[in-house]
Amino acid sequence: ARKIIIDTDPGQDDAVAILLALASPEDVEVLGVTAVAGNVPLALTERNARIVCELAGKPDTLVFAGCDAPLSRPLVTAEHVHGKTGLDGPPLEEPRMALQGAHAVDFIVETLRRETPGSVTLCPLGPLTNIATALQRAPELADRIAEIVLMGGAYFEVGNITPAAEFNIYVDPEAADIVMKSGIPVTMMPLDVTHRALTTADRVEAFRGMGTRVGEMVAAWTDFFERFDKEKYGSAGAPLHDPTVIAYLIEPEIFSGRHINVEIETGSELTLGMTVADYWRVTDRPANVQFMRDLDADRFFSLLTDRIGRL
Ligand code: BDR
Ligand code: CA
Repeated sequence: ARKIIIDTDPGQDDAVAILLALASPEDVEVLGVTAVAGNVPLALTERNARIVCELAGKPDTLVFAGCDAPLSRPLVTAEHVHGKTGLDGPPLEEPRMALQGAHAVDFIVETLRRETPGSVTLCPLGPLTNIATALQRAPELADRIAEIVLMGGAYFEVGNITPAAEFNIYVDPEAADIVMKSGIPVTMMPLDVTHRALTTADRVEAFRGMGTRVGEMVAAWTDFFERFDKEKYGSAGAPLHDPTVIAYLIEPEIFSGRHINVEIETGSELTLGMTVADYWRVTDRPANVQFMRDLDADRFFSLLTDRIGRL
């Protein structure tokens, strides 16, 4: 199994991603879950991460709290999408499992120093603040990271927080810029892909029909999460953005894309956080990102229901 660290700001779709990973020990070994401020403030994202690990029946999972604000900007949150708690939908119980004492960034740095170089994959599902802070503190870690597979960015489907930018990149564009320039192999799941990973009535029913508490919770979360995209974009259902990252680690052949150059806009107020993707290779800037464009949605959802049905 591939060793991973999940860096996250749960978020209903983050929750489904964490469940998919914890349900798939033959494919991924979750070394830790590191929370970052994003969809909601840090106090809620670290709590939500623990709620999800407990729900999965894995209260021994190491959960750490990380950065509570972007590198150099005030935090922008997304309660309009995820609700006040970040995990609105079903009733939630306070988690009993403990938060680890160490800071998430220290955990990331120490884990990468300890593990065999090239054996750990980072899976960011929120703003890239924790990851960039780790790279700033210990730049030599770049050589030890196998790969970064992240949800963020957009090119053809630009803009869910501004007309030009996707939320995770917009919230901390300076952090995203550090990651894109790090030389680490990056695989990116932009809105172009995640807007094709849409729930439908049947797909939500498949979760509910599992007859488990996890299935019930996932169905209630997707029901809540659907409202924003249905109203805003007239989508058929909710895009399950973040689970695409974990699905890629398990079944990469579900996805297709191009290895291209992607730069992050950090200057312009109008297009702040835009992922300027040289999809048509009109510059000679070096390729730094495997930029995904499409997925097989049926296979994606059957993977999700198979695995989450185990919990
Ligand atoms: C991303 O932003 C968050 O709201 C979601 O959890 C996802 O990571 C989509 O733009
Ligand atoms: Ca997220």
